Amino acid sequence: MTSSTGFSRRALLGGAGAGLVAGAAGGVAVGRPAGPAPAAAAGLGSGRIPFHGARQPGIVEPQQARVHLAAFDLAPGAGRDGLRELLKRWSQTAARLGRGEPATEHENRIAADAGPCSLTVTFGFGATLFDRAGLADRLPPALEPLPDFPEDAIDRARSDGDLWVQICADDALVAFHALRVLQQQAAGTAVARWQMSGFSRTPGAAGTAPVTGRNLMGQIDGTNNPQPQQPDFAAKVFCGSEAPGWLAGGTYVVQRRIRMLLDNWENLPEDRQERVIGRRRSDGAPLSGGTEHTAVDLAAQNPDGTLAIPADAHVRVAAPAANGGAAMLRRGFSYHDGLLPDGSPDAGLLFVAFQADPARGFVPVQRKLARGDGLSRFLRHEASGLYAVPPGAPEGGYVGQALLEG
Ligand code: HEM
Repeated sequence: MTSSTGFSRRALLGGAGAGLVAGAAGGVAVGRPAGPAPAAAAGLGSGRIPFHGARQPGIVEPQQARVHLAAFDLAPGAGRDGLRELLKRWSQTAARLGRGEPATEHENRIAADAGPCSLTVTFGFGATLFDRAGLADRLPPALEPLPDFPEDAIDRARSDGDLWVQICADDALVAFHALRVLQQQAAGTAVARWQMSGFSRTPGAAGTAPVTGRNLMGQIDGTNNPQPQQPDFAAKVFCGSEAPGWLAGGTYVVQRRIRMLLDNWENLPEDRQERVIGRRRSDGAPLSGGTEHTAVDLAAQNPDGTLAIPADAHVRVAAPAANGGAAMLRRGFSYHDGLLPDGSPDAGLLFVAFQADPARGFVPVQRKLARGDGLSRFLRHEASGLYAVPPGAPEGGYVGQALLEG
């Protein structure tokens, strides 16, 4: 699911000297924007996504080429005061780096020659944070641990965590720089628990065609994501008045490290691969007919009376229509961590999905996928986490301020 979120990257890419941009503009198409791809690679460096605003960055913007995902645990004794100081420091640094300015503490000049490259930093809070920071009475009920799903092979050392950080950028050095600086600024207050890195298509790599990205199985992935222009988009993705006040306008994120059994997958003939998903491999069109963005017709039949989209096809089992309307904004990245002892690639999807309520988004869908999805034979869920992602910080404020000071 190297999915796209339907926002115009052009709106986020400043040309040299352009005033650069605010937040995510209205989406024009799923995947890359319509019209020519960003022409000059040089323009990539100046892409600037503001840190401050009603929502944290890194949720609705198009995926950048690189991601680092990391979790930290609060150090013993850090408590609420330590957490507050860390979030202030991290928020100030994320805002500076997002503007292309150096950090004020622990600046290592790794990315000294680069522009901001559409850097975004997104912070989330795991359930364990609340006790450790003396905030147990403010734990949102929806942050209860995800259930175990059939066939899960979860490594707890690479799961969960008090604080979640997502760093995205269109340049690998810029992303690494932000990770190092934030990690060093945490010293004494929070300890790194796990870290994962991934990638998506580099902007411009697909030439001039507006296309949705592909995952490591070769599928076009992200087509049927909720779209910002849909009237119920915000209700699906962002928390409303049902959430605690400090989280209103925020969201929940589920992250899973899903290894793909690529040797098995690549041995499957293309027509069978297509039936596993329910979409054509070449252009992502549903097997019920049409083109990539044609609505999926789950009732359509082949001439012989069989279902055009098989009963266990991924898009049928995951469809909101089959899950009481459950929806989420998938914004995952591919990963490749070398070889496993048996010589197969340690590669797959860093699944990242934002939603207003995991109990009405990820949980029911994954319950069904784990039991009835033809794709699950080719996957191993190896790490898992659920985090509350507070709303964005205003200028001069910091992420989580309403939780800590409210
Ligand atoms: C490595 C694991 C996975 C792969 C390779 C994968 C791949 C895909 C592909 C190719 C599509 C069709 C294009 C699209 O609409 O994006 C799709 C759709 C979808 N996937 Fe996945 N997926 C994976 C895991 C998951 C998980 C864990 C969930 C949620 C629990 C999920 C939920 C969905 C949903 C909701 C859709 C849209 C269905 C629709 O409304 O048509 N996927 N996925």
